[in-house]
Amino acid sequence: MCGIIGYTGPREPVGVVLEALSRLEYRGYDSSGIAFFRDKGEVAVARASGKLSRLVEALEGISGLAGSAIGHIRWATHGAPTEENAHPHRSGPIVLVHNGIIENEKELRLDLEEEGFTFTSETDTEVLAHLVLKAFLESGNLTDAVRKGLEKVEGSYAIAVMCEARPGELVAVRKGAPLVLGEAGGEFFIASDVPAFLKWTRKVMPLPPEVVATISPSGLTLQGSKDGRTVSPRFEEVPWDPVQAEKGAFRHYMEKEIFEGPRAIMDTLEGRLGEDNTRVFLPELVRLGPNPPEIVFVACGTSYHAALLGRRMIESLSPVSVHVEISSEFRYRPLRYRKGAWVIGISQSGETADTLGALDLARREGFLTIGMTNVAGSSITRDTEAVLLTRAGPEIGVASTKAFMAQVTLVWLIALYLGRRESREVKESLSGLVRAPARLEGFLGSFDSDAISLMARKILDSRFVIFIGRGLDYPLAIEGALKLKEITYRPADGYPGGELKHGPIALVEPGVLVIAPLIDPDLRPKELSNIREIEARGGTVLTIGPARASKEFSPSFPLPDCIGWEGVFSASSVLQLLAYHAANLAGTDVDQPRNLAKSVTVE
Ligand code: M6R
Repeated sequence: MCGIIGYTGPREPVGVVLEALSRLEYRGYDSSGIAFFRDKGEVAVARASGKLSRLVEALEGISGLAGSAIGHIRWATHGAPTEENAHPHRSGPIVLVHNGIIENEKELRLDLEEEGFTFTSETDTEVLAHLVLKAFLESGNLTDAVRKGLEKVEGSYAIAVMCEARPGELVAVRKGAPLVLGEAGGEFFIASDVPAFLKWTRKVMPLPPEVVATISPSGLTLQGSKDGRTVSPRFEEVPWDPVQAEKGAFRHYMEKEIFEGPRAIMDTLEGRLGEDNTRVFLPELVRLGPNPPEIVFVACGTSYHAALLGRRMIESLSPVSVHVEISSEFRYRPLRYRKGAWVIGISQSGETADTLGALDLARREGFLTIGMTNVAGSSITRDTEAVLLTRAGPEIGVASTKAFMAQVTLVWLIALYLGRRESREVKESLSGLVRAPARLEGFLGSFDSDAISLMARKILDSRFVIFIGRGLDYPLAIEGALKLKEITYRPADGYPGGELKHGPIALVEPGVLVIAPLIDPDLRPKELSNIREIEARGGTVLTIGPARASKEFSPSFPLPDCIGWEGVFSASSVLQLLAYHAANLAGTDVDQPRNLAKSVTVE
């Protein structure tokens, strides 16, 4: 996971790198560090364990010389999150930052120790610093040293390297971990993700794997790391607005991103509906040929929950059968799907190692693979036959919110695309989707935050929170539980309502809170009888559902009345806001919950 940044240009580099790191904090926040030229020929390295603010404090009043600088924010894999293990790592004049995992680290470390290199950290990264130094001492050329130094390295890496002997020069290369280049009139950025440098430039180029980028005062050159071939740089302008990556008047990114849900839906629909909103256009899928016999979704976490909703939607509107698999489980099973099945990986970041691995396996087994992601240029977009982009804009909060809305929009579009255009179900469903963003916006605009705060308080008073749902409400229930767990650290779990009697109902007693989204019109009577079973055993049930959906109940948190699936969006917003308010009451770090990272780039 971790985030890396490199800068070379005329600006004072410490401020630039620290600011860029603050945009990458969502990737990890166990420790951080920076390297910059303090004097000509002298690279200063500063590192701190804990949040980035500790590094910022340590560097107060310190500035560097214009030229190159690198920075790192860590999510610990090899070695504890101590200052010694924080990056950058140094070997003589070579200083580097790394994101990824070196699989043959032990063996390389032993060889280097035998050759007399000493190690000062437990990280796999230090091996890279020594290997590059060894090669640099032979050639005196930093680019060649990086190419040669990495020859025997197995695993994944994205690195940025600077050298005391070469101010203004920066070398970067990646394999299996993301890295993007940014260019702004003669100054260059290297980063794990675009938001890091969005403030300074929108001219972006994903660095192809195993291509070494060398940035020097004379510009950028790209060279194949194995064959030395020259690669031409091709920068493109990303449509992201830098303001989208700012918190604005909101207290947290998560809160801002929840309120950006309607925009995420609208932008994801943009250009995909005909002028009169009666047709769905997904040219990315047209290229793949006729409808597949089966679809297999692979995803993790919140993206997996979006896929579960997708299954329900696709199977309701089309004859295509759908499987939904957790990427990390899918990777290690034989794939017995029908010939011609599409395997669709859903990943907000496009960098989740397990989802990339699952897609890779599916491709090797001869299936057509499709990447659905929010990040143009991410790894998933390079390794799949077709790419479907959600357009939620940069999502910074670790808890996924607006990206989920965009994913649900896109799976809903796929369902409509696969369904029969003339059918009444497809027509009605499409008009529901078309009006969904405006309705969600209206709902969020008149939101009863007192009611949410009251429910959030009840959540904190409960020993354990159970979320239940059937049909469309089941993915919402497990998504609600995930959101609550990850940012409040409170025990919570989601179950299909019908499963309760097979075990989980044993947990129900006075003092236990159950939350039930109730937006699936088809299964509502069955959901209501599950609720009665819980109440009969002393559990407290909070329901989230359309205000006038049923004579039999009035929901604890009423949603606007809706026909069909639009309730998925409003109910999800309520669940997100519930978790958000509960976390605020609990005083946890909402945007950077403990132990988590935004992109899980390790298996
Ligand atoms: O980037 P991805 O969509 O592949 O990420 C998958 C999960 O790691 C992610 O959804 C995670 O569960 C979120 N933190 C949930 O809020």
